[in-house]
Amino acid sequence: MAIGILLVGGFGTRLKPLTNETPKPMLPVGGLPVTERQLLAAKKAGIKTVILATSYLSDVFTPYFGDGSKWGMNLLYAVESQPLGTGGAIRNAAALVNFADSNEEFVIFNGDVLSGHDIAAQLEFHRANSADATLHLIEVADARAFGCVPTHPDGRVIDFLEKMENPVTNSINAGCYIFSPSVISEIPGGEVVSIERETFPKLVKDGRPVYGYHEQSYWLDIGTPAALFKGSRDIVGDGFHAGPGCTIGEGSVISGGSSIGAGSTIGVDCAISNTIIGDGVEIGDNCAIADSFILHNSKIADNSKILGKYISPSENLPISPQ
Ligand code: GDD
Ligand code: MG
Repeated sequence: MAIGILLVGGFGTRLKPLTNETPKPMLPVGGLPVTERQLLAAKKAGIKTVILATSYLSDVFTPYFGDGSKWGMNLLYAVESQPLGTGGAIRNAAALVNFADSNEEFVIFNGDVLSGHDIAAQLEFHRANSADATLHLIEVADARAFGCVPTHPDGRVIDFLEKMENPVTNSINAGCYIFSPSVISEIPGGEVVSIERETFPKLVKDGRPVYGYHEQSYWLDIGTPAALFKGSRDIVGDGFHAGPGCTIGEGSVISGGSSIGAGSTIGVDCAISNTIIGDGVEIGDNCAIADSFILHNSKIADNSKILGKYISPSENLPISPQ
């Protein structure tokens, strides 16, 4: 069965300050880290071994995921002391499973994407075409911030154009792509490589079989505060989500797709809307909180008024999640 690689080593610059203490993929959406949602999606497609390619704040992942057995999966960690770029990270991660002798495909996930697409169908399409690489493609209204991927009607990729001012198509790299093992050995080892700016364009230019798998399912890159909050609200729906072991005091109203992590306590007579609250947070009585992100283990005093803030046990900074 194919092996998964999650690219979770980026700095999450556009999400700052939310990523000051938490790597982007570990930010909770609808009560679970993005990475956990991706692991569950990989598992559903039959993938059992997943390698986390970490770099920035790499220490945060292992205590949460361990060896993966809690999810019935086998998790490995490839840590880059300096970020190797997306291509370098893939090559470095694949080395953990001896890719040169492997017959198994690698399914690579950008670690900041929520996608409802059918990974097993993408894998089938890859095999049916005897492709070297197969990208999940999605249509977006504005393709400028993404990798633009024009294809022939049969799905064969014509070009790969990362972040262009005048996109030639609305069809973009949705951040889940499959590589046959031979492709991995062509990525130079031990150096910084961009899969988007170097590997994909070269494969296409060399006439290699690179295909696009079009599936217009739920899709979101959570790379900005507005997108992260939207992703969480999309999962939660109109009401709110409360994780296991939460207590909510009498008279408190939680709304606007807010999400409360496991073991958190909300006092009495609080009003909380459009807010993401991590695990083990303690919120006092009579607090009004909106459009805010409260990190794991934070404590909020009685009568606090919090609007558009990032709060952690050590920081209190403004954010604009709209
Ligand atoms: N391990 C590791 N090392 N991971 C990295 C590194 C690195 O040096 N650099 C980036 N990543 C991870 C990020 O953490 C993220 O999960 C993923 O690679 C993609 O990086 P982003 O910084 O989020 O890229 P982007 O959103 O601008 O563009 C990418 O995603 C789009 C879809 O959301 C590209 O792949 C585009 O082509 C694509 O359309
Ligand atoms: Mg991204």
